[in-house]
Amino acid sequence: EIICYLEKLNTLAAQLQEEFSLEQVIIVPGDSSRDIYAKKDIGRAAARCLKESLYDGCRVAVTGGTTLAEVAHSMSGVVTARDVLVVPARGGLGGEVEEQANVVAARIAKAIGAEYRLLHLPDNLEESLLESLKKDARIKEVVELVKSCNILVHGIGVALEMAARRGLSPEGLQVLEERGAVGEVLRYYFNREGQIVYSQPGIGIEFEDMGGLKKVIAVAGGSNKAEAIAAVLRNHRRGVLVTDEGAARKILQKG
Ligand code: BG6
Repeated sequence: EIICYLEKLNTLAAQLQEEFSLEQVIIVPGDSSRDIYAKKDIGRAAARCLKESLYDGCRVAVTGGTTLAEVAHSMSGVVTARDVLVVPARGGLGGEVEEQANVVAARIAKAIGAEYRLLHLPDNLEESLLESLKKDARIKEVVELVKSCNILVHGIGVALEMAARRGLSPEGLQVLEERGAVGEVLRYYFNREGQIVYSQPGIGIEFEDMGGLKKVIAVAGGSNKAEAIAAVLRNHRRGVLVTDEGAARKILQKG
């Protein structure tokens, strides 16, 4: 029975891989919108995937969020790759400390004996303020490191939920609704077709930097995120997806 179940998960993974032209899809059992253990399993699977992706001198950027916090929590053990650097993909968002991109980056680095650098900046500042901060020499140095990363590990959010977490204005929220935004990654909002329909100013990795990445690992699960995940993957059409059965089944139902 267990073998049969695992085979079913493998079939789901193969279907998702084909539908979104991905490099690899890893599916853990359960639905993390209902079951916290499924989210922990996603974290464990993503941590393993990240460890296997590391190589000498690579630079890794990570986002924050509750899912990435689980990845950081599961990161441990010996890594043979040398001179690995881990940085946050963007500035902080506030909220729980362990969900901050800075903390996720530092935890992952410490767990595997890598170096890390932090971005001591909130991510939701006024645009004019962000522009002047970007000119500061120390900030510039870290931002350049972030932009030169080879591997990105990111969470995916439901557009309106993330907009609220990022403190978007009521006008901004209305624009998101009008433009049919369903998914979010790194301040970019995607509609069902995978087009970017809105972006919030911030510091760190920009969408244009994504092309230079060698590997992108998207980590997100839960049937509640199915539409968001599908929207983002429709845009990316590359990389690795680590998700759960709840999200996978719902994404494929909608085709
Ligand atoms: C954020 C990422 O930190 O985490 C977003 O920058 C993502 O891209 C979000 O949408 C997801 O958060 P969670 O808590 O649902 O894993």
